[in-house]
Amino acid sequence: MKTKLTIFLASISIVFSHSIAQTKAKNGMVVSTSSIASDVGVDILKKGGNAVDAAVATAFALAVTHPSAGNIGGGGFMVFMNAEGNVTTFDFREKAPLKATNDMYLDEEGNLIRNENHLSIKAIGVPGTVAGLYKAHQKYGSLSWADLVQPAVDLASKGFTMNWTLYGPAERFRERQPDSFMGDYFADSQGELVQPGETWTQSALGQTLAAIRDKGHDGFYKGDVAKKIASYMKKNGGLITKQDLAKYEAIEREPLKGTYKDYEIYSMPPPSSGGVALIEMMNLMELADFEELEFNSTKYVHFVAEAMRRAFADRAEHLGDPDFNPEMPVNRLLSKDHAKNRFGEIDMQRASISDSSRFGQLYDGNSTTHFSVMDKNGNAVSLTYTLEYGYGSRLGSEELGFIFNNEMGDFNPVPGVTTSRGQIGTKPNLIEPEKRMLSSMTPTIVAKDGKPYLVIGSPGGRTIINTVFQTVLNVLEFDMEIHRAIEVMKIHHQWLPDRIIYERDMLSPDTRKALEAMGHTLSDRSRLGVLMGIRYDAENGIMVGASDSSSGEGKASGY
Ligand code: DON
Repeated sequence: MKTKLTIFLASISIVFSHSIAQTKAKNGMVVSTSSIASDVGVDILKKGGNAVDAAVATAFALAVTHPSAGNIGGGGFMVFMNAEGNVTTFDFREKAPLKATNDMYLDEEGNLIRNENHLSIKAIGVPGTVAGLYKAHQKYGSLSWADLVQPAVDLASKGFTMNWTLYGPAERFRERQPDSFMGDYFADSQGELVQPGETWTQSALGQTLAAIRDKGHDGFYKGDVAKKIASYMKKNGGLITKQDLAKYEAIEREPLKGTYKDYEIYSMPPPSSGGVALIEMMNLMELADFEELEFNSTKYVHFVAEAMRRAFADRAEHLGDPDFNPEMPVNRLLSKDHAKNRFGEIDMQRASISDSSRFGQLYDGNSTTHFSVMDKNGNAVSLTYTLEYGYGSRLGSEELGFIFNNEMGDFNPVPGVTTSRGQIGTKPNLIEPEKRMLSSMTPTIVAKDGKPYLVIGSPGGRTIINTVFQTVLNVLEFDMEIHRAIEVMKIHHQWLPDRIIYERDMLSPDTRKALEAMGHTLSDRSRLGVLMGIRYDAENGIMVGASDSSSGEGKASGY
């Protein structure tokens, strides 16, 4: 009887070892928004690749299977912590082309030309992804570069099964932009939309990836691909030239380091604002009395919103590309003293008022993607990259088969003008040739006793910083399991507009009323964040991965 019961229980645990909520593994884990890409990464780990190898392979695979955000035509950031606890980061953010100017989106009266900085050929920044992945691999990879790019070449040229997550946008592009690059993007060789369940091949993308496989960095930034990018730009009024591409370099940067109680937080320095704002908010939370701040209570939401308000005000005022802003007060913003000052401003009974001369923009959707990786030796990679909007600029060359970003929209478009309609005009993030635009991406690794403890990140524009912040807090302060930490209620406040955005159906009506009575304005969203995380139990060598349920095709893949 006992044996039968044991067999029965064992079979249940086999069936559920890859539950949707979380996956446990001892040898390696990749959590991404595409199950195919996660499996590609895990295959690389199984072949003896390390976390950086798996990250490179996953990133290229996502460029094929998750084209709304996975990319070779965009940029992003990687945080890498090795098993000894050493941390570094790679900045492969897009750059403004050499011909860019700080009035390039303005008409003769100095007004912003509608959509020019978001949906025009001039919105494309010099892509950084291939350079970043190549540089990280050169320094820390162990398998051959070609072996890491090959799975993506195969996925593009041999194809994979069209799914419903891709088919929705495929239909919309066909309907709204027929006879355009995106209108034909999901079509077969006869020009018909590939249907769910059918094999979708992307032969031009396969050829571009093959050039990258064979020639590495130069396969994209020099030679045939670069020539085709430059001639596409010239023909269509874009600014990027062969010289821009040849000059692009990814940068290895020191990570930002903060602490929260016994934990160390490593995140991305500028040109992302993510790490600064995350650490600033965690410093503020460290001063809070959690006897008073029960998770999801009125006081909790109020305090968290006030922390966000302050971090976002500092972000708008101070942050931009460090290579163009040598005076940025990053150390001051990260200091415990700064948090104490900010803490002193918070009234636990009343909402503060944001100065309405500044305002920010909120994003939705699938335009950025994050994945987290761990290998069997305990090396960890946290990588977020983006095209900015979903499917970026929605522009690309049929010959090359990939989509260009519209990242120039992350610059402050009108010098000195900050409006209530979504523009910031502060100096640190104005357009200059070769400057990197300010980002909110927040790939993060939290360490405990010098070992990776939490690998986390998310898409979502400015909401990224806040969803990562709350997930980190949920694990570190409220000791939630990773899948719970990802799924539970989150809010977003970004200084301006002065309002709390909350996840619909997840904040009680009573709490909302109480917050309104304190002076907060509230509005709802269906979901915030698409978090992909791993929590590592170093003592027992167990990785627990979870992919946000709001990601249609996501998977925590482990072995
Ligand atoms: O770098 C940034 O902060 C933005 N370009 C990210 C855009 C984004 O996350 C949109 N996402 N869902």
